[in-house]
Amino acid sequence: MNAIFELKNVTFDYSFDDTGPIRALNNISLTINEGEYVALIGPNGSGKSTLARHLNAILLPTAGEILVDGFTTMREENRWEIRRRVGMVFQNPDNQIVATTVEEDVAFGLENLGVDSSLMAKRVTEALEAVGLQSLKNHAPHLLSGGQKQRLAIAGVIAMRPRCLVLDEPTAMLDPRGRREVLETVKKMKQQEGITIVHITHFMEEAVEADRVIVMDKGKIIHEGTPAEIFTGGVDLYSLDLEIPVIPKLIQILRSQGLVVPPGVLKVDELVDYLC
Ligand SMILES: Nc1ncnc2c1ncn2[C@@H]1O[C@H](COP(=O)(O)OP(=O)(O)O)[C@@H](O)[C@H]1O
Ligand SMILES: [Mg+2]
Repeated sequence: MNAIFELKNVTFDYSFDDTGPIRALNNISLTINEGEYVALIGPNGSGKSTLARHLNAILLPTAGEILVDGFTTMREENRWEIRRRVGMVFQNPDNQIVATTVEEDVAFGLENLGVDSSLMAKRVTEALEAVGLQSLKNHAPHLLSGGQKQRLAIAGVIAMRPRCLVLDEPTAMLDPRGRREVLETVKKMKQQEGITIVHITHFMEEAVEADRVIVMDKGKIIHEGTPAEIFTGGVDLYSLDLEIPVIPKLIQILRSQGLVVPPGVLKVDELVDYLC
């Protein structure tokens, strides 16, 4: 399998003149393969956003190295190739709007890449269709719902044809409907476009959708496994201030009442299938 990210013993310190450095990443080694959907979870301040910012060379390691599709982030001349491959979506939808119509907003990044105008129109249409915003292309972005704004941010990124999408708590400021819309869009990007997904979230119901879950605490990776391994395998999430997703929690209760539920049941439809 082709590795898209290789982190080798990555340490990162934020430095301050008055108080000395803060170690945000502590000797992290991690490989993420092309096409994988990885959820990154962990308590506040555990280093998730700092790690995300290393994946497209916004931040550079204090020690260690990161390869993105084989390009080290340490070399200035690689950064254009790296940023073309890795699209970022952040928490606050309002901070990511740059234009006065939905369509222009998606076109903005392509203009910066110097894509010619006929190809640009095609890419904008495709990206808006992929996130389901084609019918709103002439609307003003600031009038969209939170979920629509985040889908617009995703469209702006995928129009540039990245290999990977890094989403740093993209649903944190959304209502349940907006969260659902964004999660469905992210899953579609993986399934239909084959884009590698790194999804930071504090909603465990979202992490359940990933192929692999990585748990961070105090700048380190402390657990790594399938959603079933992390959420039903006895990992102590409470001590990390993380929730157990509803279905595994319900299954714990059903089992304590004597019901036999097979291992690996994580989602509502899986539990329904089993019970019916
Ligand atoms: N811009 C910054 N300057 C200084 N320290 C920071 C900065 N951003 C984060 N930190 C510190 O780095 C650590 C990791 O933070 P962060 O990566 O934001 O964690 P998370 O995203 O998991 O909440 C925390 O101790 C935090 O206070
Ligand atoms: Mg964060």
